[in-house]
Amino acid sequence: MYEKQQITEEQLQKILEAAQNAPLAVGNRPKARLTVVQEPELLDEIRKCCQTESRKNPGVIRDSLYCAPTLILVSETSLSEDRIELCDAACIIENMMLEATSLGLGCCYIWGCLSKLRANHVLLKKLDLEEGQVILSGFICGMPVKPLYAKKREAISVVRL
Ligand SMILES: Cc1cc2nc3c(=O)[nH]c(=O)nc-3n(C[C@H](O)[C@H](O)[C@H](O)COP(=O)(O)O)c2cc1C
Repeated sequence: MYEKQQITEEQLQKILEAAQNAPLAVGNRPKARLTVVQEPELLDEIRKCCQTESRKNPGVIRDSLYCAPTLILVSETSLSEDRIELCDAACIIENMMLEATSLGLGCCYIWGCLSKLRANHVLLKKLDLEEGQVILSGFICGMPVKPLYAKKREAISVVRL
């Protein structure tokens, strides 16, 4: 969860600069688009649209954006047959996450709840997406309510041949 307090303009600019430096597939750079949503009313509408039922506590509706004050959507004008634009979006978001973390901000990749946003034509209009533009992934960031810590996690298996 995040504090209500917005990230600073300087922090946002550094995160956006990191996004611009992400490695992308050849030719995809002009198709990619970042939409920064910080306007509280619009963010609340997106939050309501994207809320989901908690897996841990069935019946409990949770904020899929964790009260974050900044949402950045990555979209593309079209998807190639091999859907390489999804890889580009992941690279952009990873770069933004590394920068946000280095700035002491909390952040998270947002994917699952975006299908609801893609289906909400009223909100899509408010996001001013160009015709045919599709939202691929999202990124949220803000000041974390609790200090960041390194989680224990299952290892990815490694095969050496
Ligand atoms: C491709 C991708 C999609 C993700 N989608 C979501 C999401 O929709 N909602 C969410 O809360 N976290 C999402 N995450 C974040 C992960 O659940 C997880 O928190 C993150 O990878 C950090 O791992 P850790 O919590 O083990 O440190 C996503 C991560 C990745 C890489």
